[in-house]
Order: sequence, then C-alpha cells, then structure tokens
Amino acid sequence: MRKIWVLDTTLRDGEQSPGVSLTSTEKVEIALQLQKLGVDRIETGFPATSPGEIISMQEIAKQVTQATLVGFARSKEQDIDAVREALQGAEDACLHLFLATSPIHRQHKLRMDKAKVLETAAAAIRYGRKYFSKVEFSAEDASRTELDFICEVVDMAIRAGATVVNLPDTVGYASPDQFGEMFRIVKQQVPGIEKIQLSTHCHDDLGMATANTLAAIRNGVDQFEGTINGIGERAGNTPIEEVALALDTRTELYGAQTSLVLEELYATSRLVSKRTGMSVPGNKAIVGANAFAHESGIHQDGMLKERTTYEIVSPERIGLKTSKLVLGKHSGRHAFKEKLADMGFEALTEEQLQEAFRKFKDLTDKKKQVLDEDLLVLMDESRNASP
Ligand code: KIV
Ligand code: ZN
Repeated sequence: MRKIWVLDTTLRDGEQSPGVSLTSTEKVEIALQLQKLGVDRIETGFPATSPGEIISMQEIAKQVTQATLVGFARSKEQDIDAVREALQGAEDACLHLFLATSPIHRQHKLRMDKAKVLETAAAAIRYGRKYFSKVEFSAEDASRTELDFICEVVDMAIRAGATVVNLPDTVGYASPDQFGEMFRIVKQQVPGIEKIQLSTHCHDDLGMATANTLAAIRNGVDQFEGTINGIGERAGNTPIEEVALALDTRTELYGAQTSLVLEELYATSRLVSKRTGMSVPGNKAIVGANAFAHESGIHQDGMLKERTTYEIVSPERIGLKTSKLVLGKHSGRHAFKEKLADMGFEALTEEQLQEAFRKFKDLTDKKKQVLDEDLLVLMDESRNASP
C-alpha cells in the first residue's frame, strides 16, 4: 500500500480562519494532539507575521519531537531567517516557501514576469537549502497557472534543491478531473520528478477540496495538506479527517493510506473546535454530531439488524464509542423497543409496548427529539395508568 504523507496546517492556514487567534499554550496543546494523531508534518506557523508567532513556534519545537515541524515563508531572505529563528530547536525542521505563479497573481499582485518568478523562487530555495535539509516550495495559485509554466516551475524547484514541491488550488477553483490531469502531466513531463515528493493543498470555495485532493492522490501525489475540521481561509482547507477516512474506507480504489492513528481523529476534532471557537456543523462528514446518528425507522431497523446497511465507517474507527439511534418522529417500533430494553423496560407485554409506542408517537409530534428523561416520564405515566 502506497503511503500518503500528511502535512497539517491547522496552526497556520487554519489559524487564518476569520476570527481565529490561538495563544501559544493553545498551539502547543493542539500540536501535541496532532503528534498523537500521527501527523507526519506539522506546519506550526508563519513566523514573519509577528514576534508572538516565533515564540509559539519555539515552544512547540521544545515539546513536539516526533513530527517534522514546518515554518511558512514568502520567497524572501528575511522570512527565511524568521523560520530559522522559530525552528532552531526543532528535532526535524522543514522550510516551506511559496511564490505565486498564475497570470492573475503575476500581473496584479507580484508585478513580475515569468522569468522573474522563476529567478526569485530559485534564489529563495537556494538560500533556504543553506540552512534546511528539507525545503518545500509551493507554486501559489498553481491550478490557475498555464500548464507548461507549471512544468517549468517544478523543474526550476527541483534544480534549485527543493525536496517537496506543492501545487495548491489556492482559491478552490479546480475541478477534480482537471486538477488530477495537472499532476499526471507534471509527473510525466518534468525530468527528475522522482527525486522529490509532490504535494497538494486545496481550498473549499466550491466545496471540492476533498474531491480535488483525492484526484491528486489518484494521480500520484505523495503528500496532501489540510486542516482538522477543514478550518482555514474563506471556506477553509481540505479536512484531513475526510481524506484519511476516504483512503481507509476505499483502499481498493486508491491503494494508498496515511499513517494517521485514526482513532485519535474525534478527540483532535473536538480539541480544535474548542480552542478555535469554531463549532463543527452537525452534518459535517466524519466528525459532525450527526455523522453516526440515525433517525429514520427504516434506517434504525437496518442498523439493528446489520450495522453496515447504513454505516460505511464504524464509529470506533475515529475514536467514538457507538453510533446513536436518535428517537424522533421517523423512528420505528424496533428502535423504540431496543431503547426501552436498554433502559431496563424489557418485560413489557405486547399491549404495553403498543400503548407506550402510541404515546411516544404522540410525543414526537410535539418534540423533535425524545430524550431518555421523556421516556422515563412516559413509562411512569403508563405504569400509573395501568390497572
Ligand atoms: O493556499 C495556498 O496556496 C497556501 C500556500 C500553500 C501557498 O496556503
Ligand atoms: Zn492555503
């Protein structure tokens, strides 16, 4: 099985979510949990942004020793020097440089032509390699860059000494077929591509970050980048939990696996949500409160007969104890009876059960979700009413 490397950028791109700002203590706590999750590379910050960022990164470097720590930098010597300062105590460090390559960014943001982009990036990579044995180069806005120029950029990065080359979908514009094709062509056309690791990094502006990441994996990338719960700039980044579970569930399709300890995913999701203040929507894939909850009677009946009728991932796989059968308007007798049995009401006659179920159905018209307390009251009333 091919290994896919995971670069977590919750503490850098994730912290770029509007309204999120983490203290140094919170960053260390999250980084330690990411280490427990088995993330290969943790991007701990963008140290040129503030002195506080450098301090947080240094604190993480003191305590997190089992993952490669990554520092983000523009293709400028002063940014690279800031990463040197922030990661000087790290067991294993990687410099992550970026420069935009698309015509829109070249013309309006950088005011550089193609030659200047190539020259600036190559100089930064060479300077970075003096101090770091691992240097990742990201061609920002790669998905909106001319394909032949992307090949030139990757070729330049390899020659200048990059060890990882990342082609991001910076603005979430790509579609899976087109995005996968870019990696296929790069792998086919750039000489020496086997010397480096190819990476991808997607944003979710059109809701396709996970699909685009999986398309890149199918077309040979070695690493994907993402965040826990998919937090990040604008609509966010690729949710790590979604890609990891897709690979784990569909091995026959992807033939690739991360080395994450998947059982730590739920705890990591909760921690990131608590510390960032960004709640996870109930219907969020894998880690949402409803991801393992079943309400319809037909589904509950199926689940009680055989879990795989309606669950493609078991809750234990991500560190949850059980699935939930939620009692509500769509629930049926089977789930109701099981629930009562769980609560100790096993020895009901057929009539008692029928009567309790009728009362339960009346209640569901008044209440969206029937809780254990409601069932206790309902059973108490039934007992008092019986002769
Ligand atoms: O979205 C992006 O392109 C990034 C960097 C990898 C440049 O966050
Ligand atoms: Zn990004």
